[in-house]
Amino acid sequence: MNDTNNIDIINQIRSKVDIVDIISEYLPLTQRGKNFFGICPFHDDTNPSMSVSREKQIYKCFSCGASGNVFNFIMDYEHISFKEALVLLSQKTGIDIGNIQVKKENNKYEEFYNIYNIALKYFQNNINTIQGKQAKEYLEQRKIDETIIKDFSIGLSLSTRDGLLKLLTRKKYNNKLLNDLGLTVNNYDNFIDRIIFPLWDTNGKVVGFSGRIYHQNSKQNKYVNTKETPIFKKGQTLYNYHRAKEFARREKSIIIMEGFMDVIRAYSIGVKNVVALMGTAMTKEQVNLVKRLSSHIILCFDGDDAGRKATLTNGDMLVKAGIDNIKVIALENNDDPDTYILNNSSENFKALIENAINYSDYKINSLKKGINFNSDIEKSEYINKVIKEVSTIKDEIRVEIVLKNLAKEFNLSYNTLEKRLLEMTQEEEKRQVVIYETKSSKKKNNKYEKATYEYLYYMLINEQAIIYYDQQNIFFPIEKARYLASEISYYYKKYGIITIADFYTYLQDKKDLMELLKIVLTYDVKEKVEKEEIEALAKVIREYNVSQEIQRLKEKMKDKIDPLEKAKLADEIRMLKIGSV
Ligand code: UTP
Ligand code: MN
Repeated sequence: MNDTNNIDIINQIRSKVDIVDIISEYLPLTQRGKNFFGICPFHDDTNPSMSVSREKQIYKCFSCGASGNVFNFIMDYEHISFKEALVLLSQKTGIDIGNIQVKKENNKYEEFYNIYNIALKYFQNNINTIQGKQAKEYLEQRKIDETIIKDFSIGLSLSTRDGLLKLLTRKKYNNKLLNDLGLTVNNYDNFIDRIIFPLWDTNGKVVGFSGRIYHQNSKQNKYVNTKETPIFKKGQTLYNYHRAKEFARREKSIIIMEGFMDVIRAYSIGVKNVVALMGTAMTKEQVNLVKRLSSHIILCFDGDDAGRKATLTNGDMLVKAGIDNIKVIALENNDDPDTYILNNSSENFKALIENAINYSDYKINSLKKGINFNSDIEKSEYINKVIKEVSTIKDEIRVEIVLKNLAKEFNLSYNTLEKRLLEMTQEEEKRQVVIYETKSSKKKNNKYEKATYEYLYYMLINEQAIIYYDQQNIFFPIEKARYLASEISYYYKKYGIITIADFYTYLQDKKDLMELLKIVLTYDVKEKVEKEEIEALAKVIREYNVSQEIQRLKEKMKDKIDPLEKAKLADEIRMLKIGSV
């Protein structure tokens, strides 16, 4: 990306779009003063901590520190490369990028994707051979037809134990790599005689596989998965996410299920806004992923004890993440979505989605289980738990309905319940304040660090600071700060202007400087800066350097015995001290 022409086109595209419009397509923003605010999609945010500046054309999260220009936002949100983000915006703006060459990222993992793609083709081919007959019969009996097999790229690993290994070794991939990718174990294939389901990342690239047994009397684990790699983390993956994205936005809701057979079945009857957790409890990363798609989340887990438990743990997790439209489809009789749809009808299942109940109602209902209502203690414990749950409900009308029902059911006065609710809300608020205070009391930078970062920030908004930096040869005591300063100065000389939003693009390939830039931008407190302030900061930095040097000379003096040498050092120190005042 060193080519000036490239930079011109890239910056042209950047300046043709408005970051506020683009980010608004992904999440709601509200204007407060000059800036726009929204819930940050890059951490589990509950209050709007992300600010977007129309003037600077950058975004910044006060809580997690994420920041960047419009390219960075799209790259991080969509998990795509710089080039892909560029193509996306070039289509929007109609600016032709021709065959622009940008340094390829993810280069490191290109090989991984290639290998998984070869394996995928191999598995898909197998299922259509004579050796795939039994697997096909199994799928047929489970009502998985040809269309579904194609849609979900379902394949088969053979019983030969080394079919894939041989194929990939012939292509010169070494054993160690294949082991690391979870395709082989020692000198054998990892998947032996299993129906293969590819796993995709959020952009639809194959990053692993899951293989299911299909012989009736097999005693092996039902599923075997490829292991975690830098491109595949189970806790950051949701099955079918790459396809559900589009449908979730269209339907304005996203349905979460337990297993991928459930998702495949739902998809096949036209319910396409579905993802699966793949048998684990939801992680924070997964919560963030679904939150991006919609704030209306429907949990549809298996109708057994494990499924009910999972509904509660995951539901609580979503409540904590600040999602207030959570619904539940509560299956029964040990059904999972797959068997429910097969044993009933698609219409019945779609009706279940329409009639999904509020998570808080589901939870209140489930609190009843196992309570002995003849015991006053258990009864009051139950009522307190219900009120605690009510305190998470934001809709005041619903709060009143639930409390009135509760009052009627246990013959209590509405006022007593309401008073208890108020107490609980206040207790919770107090607790939140404590959490907030401990979180925000992080270590303060010292005076010199602060001056350094502030100076760097000024260099980004005022060319005077760059000119003064060059004139005075300012030496920043922090190494990375020195690099960043010289990049800023270089950029300014080359392009004659500095814009934070474009400087982000320029730093694209320099990850550690990008990190520092994010820190520097947290010093964005001023719109304008005067020459005197720039000079004052430079003075602080200089003083620091001098005091460091004095310190160094003093240490040196300690080691000297020769009185003459000692005197010489003392003299140097004295000179420095005079110079610095
Ligand atoms: P299920 O046992 O409910 O699987 O586990 P399923 O998707 O309904 O599949 P069928 O209908 O039995 O064929 C839910 C999910 O847990 C993960 C898988 O991702 C599965 O989809 N799992 C389950 C494993 O990873 N390993 C296992 O041994 C079992
Ligand atoms: Mn299941």
